[in-house]
Amino acid sequence: MTAYRSQFDRSIEDPVGFWSDQADLVEWSVPPDRVLDDSRPPFYRWFEGGRLNTCHNALDRHVAGGRGDVTALIHDSPVTGAKLEISYADLLDRVEQFAGALRAQGVRRGDRVVVYLPMIPEVVVAMLACARIGAIHSVVFGGFAAQELAMRVDDMRPAVLVTASCGIEPGRVVEYKPIVDAALDLASYPPDTVIVVQRPQAEATLVAGRDVLWEEAVEAGRGADVSCVEVEATDPLYVLYTSGTTGKPKGIVRDNGGHAVAMAWSMRHVYGMSPGDVWWAASDVGWVVGHSYIVYGPLIAGLTTVLYEGKPVGTPDAGAFFRVVAEHRVNALFTAPTALRAIRRADPESVLVREHDLSSLRTLFQAGERLDPGTFEWAGEVLGVPVVDNWWQTETGWPIVANLRGLEPMPLKSGSPSVPVPGFDVQVLDPGGRPVASGQEGAICVRLPLPPGTLTTLWGDDDRYVASYLSEHPGYYMSGDSGYRDEDGYVFVMGRTDDVINVAGHRLSTGAMEAVIARHPDVAECAVVGAADDLKGQLPRGFVVLKSGVDRPHGEIVDELVQKVRDEIGAVAAFRVVDVVDALPKTRSGKILRRSMRDIVDGKAVAVPPTIEDASVLERIRADFAPAPTPSRPITEEGTA
Ligand code: COA
Ligand code: AMP
Repeated sequence: MTAYRSQFDRSIEDPVGFWSDQADLVEWSVPPDRVLDDSRPPFYRWFEGGRLNTCHNALDRHVAGGRGDVTALIHDSPVTGAKLEISYADLLDRVEQFAGALRAQGVRRGDRVVVYLPMIPEVVVAMLACARIGAIHSVVFGGFAAQELAMRVDDMRPAVLVTASCGIEPGRVVEYKPIVDAALDLASYPPDTVIVVQRPQAEATLVAGRDVLWEEAVEAGRGADVSCVEVEATDPLYVLYTSGTTGKPKGIVRDNGGHAVAMAWSMRHVYGMSPGDVWWAASDVGWVVGHSYIVYGPLIAGLTTVLYEGKPVGTPDAGAFFRVVAEHRVNALFTAPTALRAIRRADPESVLVREHDLSSLRTLFQAGERLDPGTFEWAGEVLGVPVVDNWWQTETGWPIVANLRGLEPMPLKSGSPSVPVPGFDVQVLDPGGRPVASGQEGAICVRLPLPPGTLTTLWGDDDRYVASYLSEHPGYYMSGDSGYRDEDGYVFVMGRTDDVINVAGHRLSTGAMEAVIARHPDVAECAVVGAADDLKGQLPRGFVVLKSGVDRPHGEIVDELVQKVRDEIGAVAAFRVVDVVDALPKTRSGKILRRSMRDIVDGKAVAVPPTIEDASVLERIRADFAPAPTPSRPITEEGTA
């Protein structure tokens, strides 16, 4: 039996035994007395009775073990020119200082801290400082606008918000402070304190009595008790909001114990990384990839992690990723396929890649969206290393399906992230909840209990947790993705079954965009669908029906709608295309046929549902918006002209 097969089978047949063994990967102040509490299905708790501190596992224990001089974090920022290497001892020192700052602001175990920071070392410091004192952090991605930030603030009711004066996008400085001020004006439960990192690229104006500069906060915290606070394994470490079907994001709750074990296990067995390796996840700390594999995973595993403040292209060019790999001797790079597509588009002959010494690179990991075969093949050829896809979600926190490089690397198949990871009993179900035959598409689900490190609930809303993920097929977690397994057990992920779309590796809700558009006074109803895009995978595309009597120029209304989505959700939504139509296609029960509209704009065959209310509406959409067929080109002697 192969290493993978035996470990996978054991994880499913004897999860308690399997995870009990893996618990040794982290240091506990009190070891768990019950590995799995399954007394309240569908709620499961891992490592009950265990007590630990996640920051201790990420920093203190490496320093205590004599590895204080090893580089923990490399900050590489082509947008500012900054490059900084921070050792484990130095990072611990900075984290202790900021833990003191939070303490001085009255932050206690269980309190919440919202973090709205760009990709600078302070973001890692702030997260670990929260973990150190048992506070729960919630990091909000910098591309979100004030209203999205306000929603998260109101859900978390934080004691403190940590921000910076600005983030830097290619060619523009994004001032964060006005966004924070606007968000806190909108919020019903604003924090008492805002700690601000002042960056030279923009100066934030401070609100007297509420805002305090990072350095002053640290100064005020000198002398505070900054030792690690022991927390229950089941206590929340963080809440990370992700897009769901509705406008209200879901606050994914991650615990301390299960998460630490899952991070340590996955860094080693999924990604094949060992202490001392240099690891770079080119994502953003505002996403789950950033939480798991920029901050917690690599530090818990004792690696060197790269924090990159830049883009794959334009900072300054499409060679940026390869410059970073060569300069820091990166052993594994983790990025989204979109980033590679952007590089390929900007440098189709791969001239810039060849300028750099990539001999340190062992593996290129891909996640966040479907890895298209073209990108898979191109990257393999250009980089000469295995291109390894892995499929997972904010909810799970670590891969559900992967090619386990540290356990048993398997043959790679284009289009598939490979096989279920130990702990995840993946099943493809039909609408009646029955497993389908191999090759047949269905809802990708995971039989409960989910392994350690996965979501324990939604923040403050157990009912929504059950309704969103666990009710459709009792006994299973429903991922929201559809797909199939082949005869070798490889899983192929085909796309979402709900209204979540994936734009440049960023998960967004069309429902949230519709909610913004529907508030425009001229709009009667609307639909937003995710249209296929060669670079970003998908792009949102809006259709609106105007209220009767509205006779303003459509172009004006469209511009306002685009601006409104940018202002209320954020630039990251990349919402630019809206069309005014006279009606939206619907079923007789009034459900808008978004999938049919998406198929039309993608140029796919559209099945007309028998329940359609008025087929002529769909026909008009097809006539107006189906892409023109690509004209066939004449054949010459050399091939197509
Ligand atoms: N703060 C403020 N604004 C941000 C932001 C941030 N952290 N991140 C993105 N934005 C803005 C961008 O400036 C852009 O604004 P614009 O409309 O004024 O140009 C908008 O949000 C869209 O950004 P982005 O998705 O980055 O698109 P892009 O066209 O600027 O760049 C890529 C295209 C492919 C280079 C970029 O999308 C990319 O690097 N993708 C990979 C994403 C990734 O790693 N995801 C993590 C999943 S693992
Ligand atoms: P997020 O929660 O932001 O990580 O987004 C999760 C969603 O992104 C999944 O439900 C998938 O739809 C998609 N996704 C992530 N990784 C992959 C992958 N490797 N292949 C296909 N889709 C992916």
